[in-house]
Amino acid sequence: MCGIVGILGREAIAFDLVEGLKRLEYRGYDSAGVAVLEGGEITRVRAEGKLKNLEAKLREAPLSGRAGIGHTRWATHGKPTENNAHPHATERLAVVHNGIIENFRELREELQAEGRVFASETDTEVVAHLVTALMDKQMSAEEAVAAALPRLHGAFALGFVFRGEDNLLIGARRGAPLAVGHGDGEMYLGSDALALAPFTDTITYLEDGDWVVLNRASARYFNEKNQPVKRKAQKTQAGAFLVDKGNHRHFMAKEIHEQPEVIGRTLAHYIDMGTGEVRLPFGLPFDWAKVGRLSISACGTAYLAGQIGKYWFERLARLPVEIDIASEFRYREAPMTPGDVMLVISQSGETADTLAALRYAKDQKQHVMSVVNVPTSTIARESHVVAGTLAGPEIGVASTKAFTCQLTVLACLAIAAGRARGVLSGRREKELVTQLIAIPGLVAEALKHEAPIEALARELSKATDVLYLGRGTSFPLAMEGALKLKEISYIHAEGYAAGELKHGPIALIDETMPVIVMAPRDPWFEKTVSNVQEVAARGGAIVLIGPEGVGREVAVDTLAEIAMPEMAPDFSAFVYAIPAQLIAYHTAVVMGKDVDQPRNLAKSVTVE
Ligand code: AGP
Repeated sequence: MCGIVGILGREAIAFDLVEGLKRLEYRGYDSAGVAVLEGGEITRVRAEGKLKNLEAKLREAPLSGRAGIGHTRWATHGKPTENNAHPHATERLAVVHNGIIENFRELREELQAEGRVFASETDTEVVAHLVTALMDKQMSAEEAVAAALPRLHGAFALGFVFRGEDNLLIGARRGAPLAVGHGDGEMYLGSDALALAPFTDTITYLEDGDWVVLNRASARYFNEKNQPVKRKAQKTQAGAFLVDKGNHRHFMAKEIHEQPEVIGRTLAHYIDMGTGEVRLPFGLPFDWAKVGRLSISACGTAYLAGQIGKYWFERLARLPVEIDIASEFRYREAPMTPGDVMLVISQSGETADTLAALRYAKDQKQHVMSVVNVPTSTIARESHVVAGTLAGPEIGVASTKAFTCQLTVLACLAIAAGRARGVLSGRREKELVTQLIAIPGLVAEALKHEAPIEALARELSKATDVLYLGRGTSFPLAMEGALKLKEISYIHAEGYAAGELKHGPIALIDETMPVIVMAPRDPWFEKTVSNVQEVAARGGAIVLIGPEGVGREVAVDTLAEIAMPEMAPDFSAFVYAIPAQLIAYHTAVVMGKDVDQPRNLAKSVTVE
């Protein structure tokens, strides 16, 4: 959602703050700012738009301070203007904030009644004034923060610096991640280890409700009852993942092409390549044979991975699955049998809606397993079991390699469940595992069809609406293709069950409406062919994604045919995800869109 960095350094730190923020831009990037202590006074520099605008300002007027905080923003309250950019400040302090202060209106009214004057539309500014008002009552900075935190409702992470205090940094977390970085005579604060990777690999993660008082030599941790607590420091590998685009133009392109490697790496983590069997790299606190229902909940692309996983759990493990969009799940107040399983899926592991679904399931005495790409994330740390995807950091806001790695883990879990429930024979398991082991090569094969997709993109870029169709696991994949396309090209796109077309959406079909059909050679192939002919009969502009020569079998005029490698149908979703990703990518590139950081979006949405 937003990114926070704080540094108590030995030399000028303004550009170090920017360096840390660069690794947090994926969390939000509509404005940015720093607050640095210069001669005991707080100097703020903020800029609307991308981080490079802030960097330009700092180059024009360099800051020499050695203590400060920085922030990159995804706007929740108040437009993405310089005036609403963080840090927010008063005469005593500056503060940066990730998350939402849910009771900010009443606090703002209370503080305004006390004569405090606000300069922005943000919820964050109430924190600055609240702590300042408490310091005006002769509290120290530490005492004022301790007294202010219980007044704040909502999920947030905060970082403070104080006028005249060149060796003091205070951080607090509730629901949004925050970590301390330990340097040599320096101390850091950051939203995650990636932000701190340029400075240190020794990290301490704050637990939910913690706050911390830092100086250059020490870190004192307190829990939400303000009791001193110990938190352990750990070595992190985030530095090893220092990401760059390699020889690709965008992170998204790099991540699309990393999929053969990262799917393979994830498979190797879950499959005994010697025996050809699934071997989960963790114990389970439950017996699949005794699970009556599996609930799945996630958001966006992770949710669509879960939709595909539902087919596999029900088909391979005969396990009833209910799946919900996380932002809706807990409002349904689903009755849940204690001892059943909730599976949450999240690339970032910080999505607030998904975390809320996890917590509801825990209250309902479910065993909670998470499929996450960040093992140190909040969702991972609140789960009973963590099934990691080994996709490596995914920087492009549009999720690609994390999606196919989520599918990898879900397929392995479904096979393990089928075996445990006695409904999957050893022979069938080996057959399925053999198919999975072939996936990286098939994905690499699918990636070779980029040229026809680039040509198609030039056509699609003229469209205002696009329809994706699919059956079986190709139906959630059709929705994923539509999500990819709309979120980076801004073209309206919908994914629909192919069989549902005739129940309404077929009214949309004419020659201006591209219809992209996922048509793997699966048990429903003939029915999908009929749907294609229904579209053709109405002059629709058809894009066929299917096995080599599928166009001849369907015998209709098409806008394009994208040939996929012949493969067994069980796991076609892995391979057919590739053209869906490439179509979105190349269309957005043709249209000159900001592929890695699309407008209005953020990589991790840590507010509900
Ligand atoms: C996917 O391309 C989107 N960026 C978005 O839908 C994303 O999948 C969703 O916000 C969930 O994020 P998570 O996997 O980090 O929980």
